[in-house]
Amino acid sequence: MAIKRVLKMGDPVLYRKAEPVEQFDTPELQALITDMFDTMAALNGAGLAAPQIGVSMRVVIFGFETNPRYPDAEPVPQTVLINPVIEVIGEETEEDWEGCLSVPGLRGLVTRFANIRYRGHNQQGEPIDRTVSGFHARVVQHECDHLDGILYPMRLKDIRHMGFEEALFPDL
Ligand code: NI
Repeated sequence: MAIKRVLKMGDPVLYRKAEPVEQFDTPELQALITDMFDTMAALNGAGLAAPQIGVSMRVVIFGFETNPRYPDAEPVPQTVLINPVIEVIGEETEEDWEGCLSVPGLRGLVTRFANIRYRGHNQQGEPIDRTVSGFHARVVQHECDHLDGILYPMRLKDIRHMGFEEALFPDL
């Protein structure tokens, strides 16, 4: 299909609450998901939310075997997650560096819940129900935040915990 332009922080679409998908298994939904995978692959993203390509619907994708932007991350299964719901398991949190294709060139140290259960549907409307931890849990929380108009810099405890990739990770 097509590699789409990714909206950058400051674009009002990124701060909107996205709308639920009501009809699964449609050509329009499949076309959106194909564009999202093409765009994510072209930019080496770990995940992408539909609002990032200007479509304000509750659709996220994520997953990779290895990712050059996150060389230490364990593999995450390639997933289409629609109308997601996250349930936090326990109180444990973890801090780690995140990036975002809508905030290019920068990274921030973000606290996320370490263990979550997430539910939703794939593009055929089949249910998804997983309990995950670590980077997988982080990616899901980051992508689902996009559906509520939240970008990771809005979650920073200290703006000094954000910087340019080449300054923070000169060897990457
Ligand atoms: Ni993002």
